[in-house]
Amino acid sequence: MSHVLILGTGGTIAGTASDPNRQWAYRAAQLSVEQLVAAVPELAHVPLATKQVAQVDSKDMGWITWQALGHAIEEAMADEAVSAIVVTHGTDTLEETACLLHALHDGRKPIVLTAAMRPASAPDADGPANLAHAVKVAKAAAQRGEGGVVAALAGRVWSARDVRKAHSHAIDAFDGGGAEPLDDLTSWPSPEARGWRVLLETPFPPRVELITSHADADGWLLDAALAHVHASGQALAGLVVACTGHGTVHEKLAQAMQRARDAGVAVWRSSRTARGGVQPRDGDAWPAAGHWTPAQARVRLVLELISARP
Ligand code: SIN
Repeated sequence: MSHVLILGTGGTIAGTASDPNRQWAYRAAQLSVEQLVAAVPELAHVPLATKQVAQVDSKDMGWITWQALGHAIEEAMADEAVSAIVVTHGTDTLEETACLLHALHDGRKPIVLTAAMRPASAPDADGPANLAHAVKVAKAAAQRGEGGVVAALAGRVWSARDVRKAHSHAIDAFDGGGAEPLDDLTSWPSPEARGWRVLLETPFPPRVELITSHADADGWLLDAALAHVHASGQALAGLVVACTGHGTVHEKLAQAMQRARDAGVAVWRSSRTARGGVQPRDGDAWPAAGHWTPAQARVRLVLELISARP
């Protein structure tokens, strides 16, 4: 019989507080994915398998953990017994992992990310309901032959293309940056199917940094980054600027961006506003990252630069 595979990566959903009266003082990534499943009565009779891929607070997410996740997903794609995948994740960088999976996954099986805003030890923990919902969504999607990537959070389902954390502490913390959640009748956006090789065969991704345009932004930080070569020999390869409004930049920062471009750095514009992003327009001096958040645009620029390598 086919089953849903639940891949655990940590996060608040697996977090616990040592003092029951101070649940906000918890540590993320303490419980195993098996323990998370065991705490959900609705899952008791659902055919499931679990695998602990990582155990991190997602603020510490990075290439190595993504590679471990990519390996596990690739294996699951080849395993006929797995009908769908659920990934438990921290909320803080869920949008970056979602965007990465959307870019790489080939759409053969559904992948559903889920998370929680309260730790598992809280009396009103939101993780169990989110996990039960994610499994339900994953199973239903597999039955419909759906194979994209979504996030099931606080009772709603978001495309991995749109999802982003929009509130720092509310239980319903995610939105779609202006896009609506998916309902049961909406087909999921197709993933881009760039393939896992770009992730799995790249030991060191190119260095792509993110800076913000703001009052008095004069490019000081960017010039410092341009002058610096890391001890590993790595220099800045790409830059995403979180711009004001629809992609505008302080004139002094724009001069530093030009110096970066002259030095061979790929420079993209995204927006520091919550909705809308920076849509490309004719005659743009700098590429626009579209609707992606600045952090998601950084992931996409990393992938672009790897793909452009000879
Ligand atoms: C994390 O992102 O791992 C911690 C915060 C959270 O999951 O809400």
